[in-house]
Amino acid sequence: MSKKYLVTGGAGYVGSVVAQHLLEAGHQVTVLDDLSTGFREGVPAGAQFVEGRIQDAARHLDASYDGVLHFAAFSQVGESVGKPEKYWENNVGGTMALLSAMRSAGVRTLVFSSTAATYGEPVSTPITESDPTAPTSPYGASKLAVDHMISGEAAAHGLAAVSLRYFNVAGAYGDCGERHDPESHLIPLVLQVALGRRASISVFGDDYPTPDGTCVRDYIHVADLAEAHLLALDAAKPGEHLICNLGNGNGFSVREVIETVRKVTGHPVPEVMAERRGGDPAVLVASAAAAQERLGWRPSRSDLAGIVSDAWAFARRRENAS
Ligand SMILES: NC(=O)c1ccc[n+]([C@@H]2O[C@H](COP(=O)([O-])OP(=O)(O)OC[C@H]3O[C@@H](n4cnc5c(N)ncnc54)[C@H](O)[C@@H]3O)[C@@H](O)[C@H]2O)c1
Repeated sequence: MSKKYLVTGGAGYVGSVVAQHLLEAGHQVTVLDDLSTGFREGVPAGAQFVEGRIQDAARHLDASYDGVLHFAAFSQVGESVGKPEKYWENNVGGTMALLSAMRSAGVRTLVFSSTAATYGEPVSTPITESDPTAPTSPYGASKLAVDHMISGEAAAHGLAAVSLRYFNVAGAYGDCGERHDPESHLIPLVLQVALGRRASISVFGDDYPTPDGTCVRDYIHVADLAEAHLLALDAAKPGEHLICNLGNGNGFSVREVIETVRKVTGHPVPEVMAERRGGDPAVLVASAAAAQERLGWRPSRSDLAGIVSDAWAFARRRENAS
């Protein structure tokens, strides 16, 4: 059955891919985005676009909506350390306003983009949802605060809510792909080297207790991630706040990513060794058992070469268009 959804942050990377999937499933989509880090042309054709802030969501939300998918946030870990107030105001203050607008309008279903950064240093691998949450940055803390806020809203006011804790999102879906400015994610950074926009890629530490000494991360294809959001809308139950990790359950090292980019692009991709960065855990890999059990979700694009190929096709299209 066709439903109507508000997608906050739908001009950004993940939100635009999910909006596209909602449209393909026959739903009506309104994107609410202030374009602070997103792009007008990123909003999929077929979605209605409202330029505005989630802080003013009450102006845009009414009872005609069946639910909200909430991606709008600032998400640069490093920036959040220097400007924590920016993260509390937008991620926490903005979500408070959004929840209040949803309550007033009687919109009672929410899917929220949470993050692996809520866990901080893992106590064991793979990370499960019952592991301790001890974020090491204001960004992770702001997302954890929102998760707590949503739990309270579900318990007190019957919200049907699912928080999806993404690990490293990567790849592209058609015209929707990753374009952060400044870019901080490994795969698009390495692809910038392959495109000749950067001279080399820095490898921050190769003496970690991992098979090749470089950090290991769990990369999940953005289209797999989008499918989980549609399943989450179906799984959301009034009064319950379900929290699920989204990852492949499979880690790839920084060196494996660089090597895969070399193979996919045919570019040599020079590396430069650098000191370890503070707060980088050796291994961050998700257990996706809860998402499998509660949402019926299984990632089907776990192959790193496939993820990199899709990201490369998107990066080249953008390069040719500019
Ligand atoms: N990309 C990842 O690997 C990753 C991993 C974990 C969690 N997340 C979370 O997923 C979500 C989407 O991430 P992304 O990579 O697509 O980021 P993005 O920056 O591409 O998208 C965020 C969008 O939200 C918009 N926005 C920000 N503040 C807003 C506000 N107050 N009102 C309206 N719009 C606002 C921006 O303009 C942008 O279009 C974020 O909440 C992020 O924390 C992303």
